[in-house]
Amino acid sequence: MRHLMSPLDFSVEELNELLDLANDIEANPQKYANACTGKKLATLFFEPSTRTRLSHEAAMLNLGGSVLGFSSADSSSASKGETVSDTARMVSCYADIIAMRHPKEGAPMVASRYSSVPIINAGDGGHQHPTQTLTDLLTIRSIGGRLDNLTIGLCGDLKFGRTVHSLIHALVRYNNIKFVLISPEELRLPGYIRKDVLDKGNVPYEEVERLEDAIPKLDVLYMTRVQKERFFNEEDYIRMKDFYILDAKKMELAPENMMVLHPLPRVNEIAVEVDDDPRAAYFKQAQYGVYVRMALILTLLGIQVS
Ligand code: CP
Repeated sequence: MRHLMSPLDFSVEELNELLDLANDIEANPQKYANACTGKKLATLFFEPSTRTRLSHEAAMLNLGGSVLGFSSADSSSASKGETVSDTARMVSCYADIIAMRHPKEGAPMVASRYSSVPIINAGDGGHQHPTQTLTDLLTIRSIGGRLDNLTIGLCGDLKFGRTVHSLIHALVRYNNIKFVLISPEELRLPGYIRKDVLDKGNVPYEEVERLEDAIPKLDVLYMTRVQKERFFNEEDYIRMKDFYILDAKKMELAPENMMVLHPLPRVNEIAVEVDDDPRAAYFKQAQYGVYVRMALILTLLGIQVS
């Protein structure tokens, strides 16, 4: 039995196979329409979500399976003090696969030790968000045609943004990847990723504060929201929240083929006027999230469709 806790749980070859499967699902949805008939996905979301929960559910429904679950800790027995390990043990009696989001780093990992079915980490605190990374990789490869030879700008809350942490872990395994880390000093990428992943792997990167300086050299600009829920005080959040706003004027500085991604939800960091720019790929990215989660469910359940 396999779980997905981090993008590193899949080798590059396995990731490429998963993305190929997602592309085939996009092209031939009918072929997969009954692949999970009789299977159940449980979504255990102890933290709010729109995309991750609903795209996992849409993925299982598209595969002919069914879904159950809860969307907040308050509506589960966690509010009565039940542990993650007991919850996982229980729910694995009710479902064939579980997607779990939790505010505590490592909670899905704990669940995986007690579950008798595969667990998907659907975001754990400020740590990892591997299914978002699968979505991001599929989007970059499908639109840009490659996952190597890329200069990727990561902009915004690089300290608490778990999507950025997972994406870096995944992308450093491809050839000739360069990162431009665009953040204010207070929201820099944590040292454990800068030193242990980028420095140790000799991955080229630079840290800059001004988005305008970085944007002309990027193949991909990955914008992120300032993670309000991870701040200890509201004053700091308010000071930081509008530090970056990508607007039409800044897009004039961007290369013609640069792709703008965002895991969403956005707050103010991408002006609505950018949505009509052909380089804005963040809504398409959310759509790719369904295909890649369909591929993931099939892979973790060991279901092959011929
Ligand atoms: N990208 C993402 O994780 O969105 P949600 O928080 O809405 O699931």
